[in-house]
Amino acid sequence: MRRCVGLALLCLLGLGFLQSRALQVDVKDDANKTCIYASMMMNFTVRYDTNTSGSRNKTFSLPSDVTLDGSSCGNSTVAPLLWLHFGSGHSWSLNFTRNATVYKGSAITFTYNLNDSHVFPDAKTKGTVTTVFKAAFPPPVPLHNIYKCNSVDAVMAEEVIQIFWNVTLQAFVENGTISSNASQCEADTPSTPGPVTTIPTTTIYSPTTAPRPDKPIAGNYSISNGSKVCLLATMGLQLNVSQARSETTWVVINIDPSNTNGTGSCDNDTASLRLNSNNTFLSFLFAVKNNHFYLKEVEISLLGFINGSAFNESNGNLSYWETSLGSSYMCHSEQRLQVTEHFLLNTFDLRVQPFHVENGNYSTAQQCSLDDDTILIPIIVGAALAVLIIIIMLAYIIGRRKSYAGYQTL
Ligand SMILES: *[C@@H]1O[C@H](CO)[C@@H](O)[C@H](O)[C@H]1NC(C)=O
Ligand SMILES: *[C@@H]1O[C@H](CO)[C@@H](O)[C@H](O)[C@H]1NC(C)=O
Ligand SMILES: *[C@@H]1O[C@H](CO)[C@@H](O)[C@H](O)[C@H]1NC(C)=O
Ligand SMILES: *[C@@H]1O[C@H](CO)[C@@H](O)[C@H](O)[C@H]1NC(C)=O
Ligand SMILES: *[C@@H]1O[C@H](CO)[C@@H](O)[C@H](O)[C@H]1NC(C)=O
Ligand SMILES: *[C@@H]1O[C@H](CO)[C@@H](O)[C@H](O)[C@H]1NC(C)=O
Ligand SMILES: *[C@@H]1O[C@H](CO)[C@@H](O)[C@H](O)[C@H]1NC(C)=O
Ligand SMILES: *[C@@H]1O[C@H](CO)[C@@H](O)[C@H](O)[C@H]1NC(C)=O
Ligand SMILES: *[C@@H]1O[C@H](CO)[C@@H](O)[C@H](O)[C@H]1NC(C)=O
Ligand SMILES: *[C@@H]1O[C@H](CO)[C@@H](O)[C@H](O)[C@H]1NC(C)=O
Ligand SMILES: *[C@@H]1O[C@H](CO)[C@@H](O)[C@H](O)[C@H]1NC(C)=O
Repeated sequence: MRRCVGLALLCLLGLGFLQSRALQVDVKDDANKTCIYASMMMNFTVRYDTNTSGSRNKTFSLPSDVTLDGSSCGNSTVAPLLWLHFGSGHSWSLNFTRNATVYKGSAITFTYNLNDSHVFPDAKTKGTVTTVFKAAFPPPVPLHNIYKCNSVDAVMAEEVIQIFWNVTLQAFVENGTISSNASQCEADTPSTPGPVTTIPTTTIYSPTTAPRPDKPIAGNYSISNGSKVCLLATMGLQLNVSQARSETTWVVINIDPSNTNGTGSCDNDTASLRLNSNNTFLSFLFAVKNNHFYLKEVEISLLGFINGSAFNESNGNLSYWETSLGSSYMCHSEQRLQVTEHFLLNTFDLRVQPFHVENGNYSTAQQCSLDDDTILIPIIVGAALAVLIIIIMLAYIIGRRKSYAGYQTL
């Protein structure tokens, strides 16, 4: 039997995000040596049904006074487990796995007690509810490194959203000494990744069909060959991916240009654009055929997509956006490009020119047929109105002529 001692320290934070305090705990083995260390801030939002006013969302924080009953350092067959108990009958646990080089979270188990009328007043159903998140939180961290992430990260399920930030965590601590080597999460180093080991944060997308996000903001990307701009792209991008490859639940994710980096390369007959944000990698490959360019390949990679696993899809046999060389391709309307069975790319306010860019500016645009339609409608309406006006004028003139002629005959 391993014995565990919990040290719950109170850190009153001046910057009180919902006035929660950082929790700090360590799990110790029977030699009194630390094997798991954790400090973090956490909020839960739980949706529950009430007797009188339908469903309600309750947000509460992980308190700093917790007990660690059941926590364990593990051994060769049992995974280390951090198990926090708080309030009346609520608990949160995280177990870990490792291989020869890295460790990571295996599953988060959150149990809340609807009998706790202080937290869940007027709850319709009673009893405890347990939700398991097979989330890769933390993501793989090199062994003997401490994981740090000040950015907000979230894990979501239908009824529960967990938000954590200011996380400092180490499992498989050796010799009871917390490491001084830190692995900072990628979200903490937004634009220019430094020399530190960066690892992506995990985001578990809600398994329910979330409401469709707004139209994505268009980003401007340009790639240079030496000092000469060789590829220009302006696009609002929205991913539509099927969860669990079941094709029944689709998740729609907007690419936020403000935290997306564009890189790429240009050759005489191929050009590539790679967009890289938090945990999304999206790449486009353009090729040339018969004096035209076209979009040949799209590749997507979402880290920590579902149950902590990555979502990777690509198709190198596409032929979208075909346009003569020396022109740009433009489409303001929404386009839904089928990339694979499980991945569609929706584009908005699109303009691309992957070849023959002169002086860093777009050349004449060839417009998509969708836009032509939207331009045609006002033209048709305008023409119809013009014809109507002409008819009315003719009728009026003829009418006047007739009455004038009438006077003359009198
Ligand atoms: C472990 O450390 C705590 C305080 O740090 C002490 O009270 C306890 O007696 C120690 N236990 C063992 C087995 O050394
Ligand atoms: C609770 O939260 C969900 C998702 O965040 C939202 O769709 C719903 O409208 C909220 N319900 C209430 C009663 O606030
Ligand atoms: C972690 O806990 C989950 C849920 O109890 C379990 O399914 C999983 O096997 C555990 N992971 C390891 C490595 O034991
Ligand atoms: C350990 O796991 C990581 C990712 O989970 C993997 O990249 C690495 O190759 C694995 N190492 C070994 C030795 O299995
Ligand atoms: C996170 O921790 C840092 C210091 O470690 C502190 O300065 C900052 O205010 C904390 N952020 C929040 C939102 O509590
Ligand atoms: C733990 O202690 C052993 C023996 O003293 C040493 O070889 C090893 O490098 C130490 N590990 C760490 C991570 O400090
Ligand atoms: C990316 O990270 C930023 C800040 O770190 C955050 O505001 C944003 O919501 C994240 N976007 C996604 C899609 O996770
Ligand atoms: C996502 O793709 C599915 C399947 O093609 C479709 O039913 C759904 O309308 C699409 N959603 C968006 C926002 O494009
Ligand atoms: C994710 O994990 C849950 C709980 O273990 C499981 O029921 C579900 O099928 C998993 N989803 C996928 C896509 O593997
Ligand atoms: C690319 O085109 C330029 C000018 O047309 C030519 O000089 C160069 O050799 C070409 N490069 C390749 C790799 O074909
Ligand atoms: C690529 O697409 C063409 C026509 O769309 C098809 O004839 C060809 O078999 C496809 N090639 C591959 C490798 O899928």
